[in-house]
Amino acid sequence: MKNWKELYDAKKMTSDEAVQLIKSNDKVVFQHDVGEPAELVRAMVRNAKNYKNVEISHMFSLGPGEYCKEEYKENFHPNMWFISGQTRKACNDWGDYTTFFFHELPELMRQGRVVVDVVLIQVSKPDKLGYVSTGVSGDYTVQAIKSAKTVIAQVNEHVPFSYGDVVFPLMEYADAIVEYDEYLPTIPASKIGPVEEEIGKYCASLIDDGATLQLGIGSIPDAVCAQLKNKKHLGLHSEMLGDGAMQLYYEGVIDNTMKSFDKDVMVANFVMGTQELYEFCDHNHAVKIMPVDYVNDPTIIMNCSKMIAINGALGCDLYGQVASDTLGGDVQFSGVGGQVDFIRGAAMARDGLGKGIIAMPSMAVKKDGTKISKITPHLADKQVVTDSRNDTEFVVTEYGIADLWGKSNKERAKALIDIAHPDFRPELKEAMKEIFHHSYDE
Ligand code: COA
Repeated sequence: MKNWKELYDAKKMTSDEAVQLIKSNDKVVFQHDVGEPAELVRAMVRNAKNYKNVEISHMFSLGPGEYCKEEYKENFHPNMWFISGQTRKACNDWGDYTTFFFHELPELMRQGRVVVDVVLIQVSKPDKLGYVSTGVSGDYTVQAIKSAKTVIAQVNEHVPFSYGDVVFPLMEYADAIVEYDEYLPTIPASKIGPVEEEIGKYCASLIDDGATLQLGIGSIPDAVCAQLKNKKHLGLHSEMLGDGAMQLYYEGVIDNTMKSFDKDVMVANFVMGTQELYEFCDHNHAVKIMPVDYVNDPTIIMNCSKMIAINGALGCDLYGQVASDTLGGDVQFSGVGGQVDFIRGAAMARDGLGKGIIAMPSMAVKKDGTKISKITPHLADKQVVTDSRNDTEFVVTEYGIADLWGKSNKERAKALIDIAHPDFRPELKEAMKEIFHHSYDE
C-alpha cells in the first residue's frame, strides 16, 4: 500500500480510545498465548463498565484473565476454546467452553459458525512496506483478522518478525493502532525430574533418525528433547515451538533436511518459551510460523516423514481411551487443542512410519496428598474422552511403553497395567478380571 504510513498515523490512538470500538453483546476474540495483546486486554477491563455481555474467546491464556473475575460477570461472558487456571472457574460456572479440533477453527470462522465481531491482536513493528508479523502465533489470528468486523492491533517492538503466513499488510485490515511496547511473557525451562527423564528416554527410543517431531507443552516434551542429542536429521512440524526444539536446532540435531516438505525449516503454529526463543524467531528463515489449518491439518501431518506426535494426558482407561481435557465431575480442565489432530495425523502417516504417543507420569498427586493412578479401569465419572481407543497407539509412562495398535482389549489392558505404577497394578489386575473376564496371568 502506497500511503500506509499516513493511514497508520491516522489510525493511531491510545488503548483506552481503541477499546471504545467494542460494543455491548459483541463477540471479542484475542490472539492467544504469549501473543495476547496485554495492553488492549487491560484497557478493555479498565473500561468494563461501558460493556454488557461482551463474549470473550481465545485459546490458551497466559495473562491474568481479569475479565473472568466474578465482579465482571455482567460485562464479560467468557466462552473459551481452551481453559487455563485463570479462566477455569468462570468457564465452568457462568461462562462456557466450545470444543472442536484446533485445525478446524479458521474454517469455523470462515463459515461464520464462530463469529468474530472484534479481534484484538498483537503484531511486530511494520517493515518498510507496512507489513507486520503476528510473530509468536499463527493459529487462528490471521483468519480472525479476515473474519472480524473490527480489528484492533497492539504494535509492540518486542514481537518478533517471524516469517510464514503470519505476515500481512496491517493497514489493509486494522481499524485502530495502539503502539505499546512490552516484553512478551516468558516460560522458564521446565524442571525435569527422574519421572520425566525416564519418560523422555522411552519416547526417544521410539524416535528414529530423520523423524519429524510434534512436541506439546510442558516438562515431558522438554525431557524428550534432552534425550535426543544423539539423533540425526530430525525435523519439526509442531503446534508449539519451545526452547527444547531451539536447543536441538543449535546442536544440529534438528536440521529439517529429511522432511518430506517444508525442508530446511521448522514449522510451528505458536511459540512459547524464553526471551531467547522469541529473539531466535525474529527474521529467521529457519522458522516458519503458520496458521493452525495448515500445521494441524491431519492430512498435512500424515504426509510428514516418520511423523512422531508426543502429547500429555490426564488419564487413560484399560481400553486405551484417553482423557486430556477433563478430570471428571463435569469440569472442563483444559481443552482438546491439537492433540487429536496430531495423534490422528501421525497414525495415518503415508509412509507407515508415524507414531502417535501419549506420554504421562503413571501417577498424579492431588492437592490433599492422595496419590492416584493415571491408568484406571474406567475413566472417571463424567470424564470426557479426548482420544478414542482407536486413536491411541502408544502410551508411555516412566515404567515403559504400551504399544496398543492392533491389540485386543485384553492385550491392551495387560500392556497398560505393565506401565502403571506398581502400587496400583494389583487393583488394576483385579479390575481387568472383572471387566474382561480374563485374568492378567492367563
Ligand atoms: N486425576 C486428578 N488430577 C490429575 C490427574 C488425574 N488423573 N492427572 C493430572 N492431575 C493433576 C495434576 O496433579 C496437576 O495438578 P496441579 O496443577 O495441582 O499440580 C494438574 O492435574 C495438571 O497435571 P500435569 O500432569 O502437570 O499436566 P500438564 O501440565 O503436563 O498438562 C494436560 C497435561 C493433559 C492437561 C495438557 O497436556 C493438555 O491440556 N493437553 C490437551 C491439549 C494438547 O495436548 N494439545 C496439543 C499440545 S500443544
